[in-house]
Amino acid sequence: MFSFKRLLSLCLLAVSAETLVAAQAVPQTIQLQSRVAPAHQALRRRALNPVTVPLADFFLGTDLQWFGNITVGTPPQTVSVVFDTGSSTLEFASTLCSDCPQTKFDSTKSSTFVDVGTTSSITFATGVGVDPVVGAAIIDSPTLRSGRDTVSVGGLIAPNTSLFLITDQTPKFDIDPFSGIQGMSARAQGFFASVVSQGLPSLFSLFLTPLAVGNAELTVGGIDTTKFTTPMTFASLPAGTGATWTLNSPQIFVNGKTTSVLKASRNVIFDSGTSNVLFPTATANAIYALISPDIVPHAAEPGTYGIACDLIDTLPASISIEFTSQSGTPFNLTIPSSELSVGPFSDNPAICQTLINAFDNLSLVGGSLLKHYYSVWDVGNQRMGFAAI
Ligand SMILES: *[C@@H]1O[C@H](CO)[C@@H](O)[C@H](O)[C@H]1NC(C)=O
Ligand SMILES: *[C@@H]1O[C@H](CO)[C@@H](O)[C@H](O)[C@H]1NC(C)=O
Ligand SMILES: *[C@@H]1O[C@H](CO)[C@@H](O)[C@H](O)[C@H]1NC(C)=O
Ligand SMILES: *[C@@H]1O[C@H](CO)[C@@H](O)[C@H](O)[C@H]1NC(C)=O
Repeated sequence: MFSFKRLLSLCLLAVSAETLVAAQAVPQTIQLQSRVAPAHQALRRRALNPVTVPLADFFLGTDLQWFGNITVGTPPQTVSVVFDTGSSTLEFASTLCSDCPQTKFDSTKSSTFVDVGTTSSITFATGVGVDPVVGAAIIDSPTLRSGRDTVSVGGLIAPNTSLFLITDQTPKFDIDPFSGIQGMSARAQGFFASVVSQGLPSLFSLFLTPLAVGNAELTVGGIDTTKFTTPMTFASLPAGTGATWTLNSPQIFVNGKTTSVLKASRNVIFDSGTSNVLFPTATANAIYALISPDIVPHAAEPGTYGIACDLIDTLPASISIEFTSQSGTPFNLTIPSSELSVGPFSDNPAICQTLINAFDNLSLVGGSLLKHYYSVWDVGNQRMGFAAI
């Protein structure tokens, strides 16, 4: 999910304020140093085995987000969360929230819950489906109360883990079939940092499939090699991008063609909690120019574009974003034409929203790209891996 803290009132950033602060305060080298266990720890450290968590698909005409169950507290209460590579904290609906329609966590029923008691708010640009991505309409701010409790994912147990209880939320979140968000940023935090310190390999993998395919899953601490057939191609995260999953791209192809605007270096953020694609306005315009002159900005929802729904299905719109592997060879990640239509706009159902939203100055891809690959998010080695499925 595309998130940021309102407090900072910077431009929109794809990382929470905490991520940002950590990224600025922590030099790049810490990540490598933290992988060297002190000698006394190495002796008593026992390896943990990877676990796989099944994921359900939040589908509203198009695949939006994938979510699965974790448990929180003692005795454990089930909480469904989006595993979100675009944020870094854990937050979920609680019984303190009278207007949350989702299943709620009751902290009074957990003997291990610690109320830290700091209140804050977090703002999510949900970027799912037919929604504006720019403008106040989607900027919704659940109110949070900080705490700590035991968090378990697929049977891996992380005691005393920082979390946030949602105490208030705006109606925009009411349709969400999940209760919260588990941030899975490129710096190990929360439950993931805990299980890595207990000996789990510092990586996770996502198999995000279309609803019709099903069997989506998250593997924590490993790679499910039964889910892909091609070799895995790894690419290193560029320096200085902190907790944000980012790869540098030298160019973009649309239907096999590129242009001077598209042949430019850009850092692309990978956000499993978002289904839309975001590019700066000039890039979005250059991509659409290679697809159809009939794709135009949709004034009612700034940042979005649309085209008559009866024209969209036949449009070739293959978008290949080039990256560079660790061995220096180029590879493409391709969003197929089938992803172009996001569905009809509510204010004009004859116009269908197209996948890419203009968003200065950010390049970000999510579920609509990730569901065509098996992806490995290697925190320990600061790299991402992709294989065709
Ligand atoms: C989550 O747990 C509930 C039962 O508590 C179950 O009905 C649901 O299928 C589970 N979801 C997934 C994705 O495993
Ligand atoms: C839980 O974590 C907090 C914050 O890091 C720490 O102060 C506290 O001692 C921990 N409690 C236990 C029981 O480990
Ligand atoms: C990436 O896609 C473009 C456009 O289809 C193609 O020309 C190029 O050869 C591809 N690159 C690789 C490494 O496959
Ligand atoms: C976005 O980038 C353009 C072109 O580089 C620049 O003119 C503009 O000020 C930037 N906008 C923001 C909000 O940073």
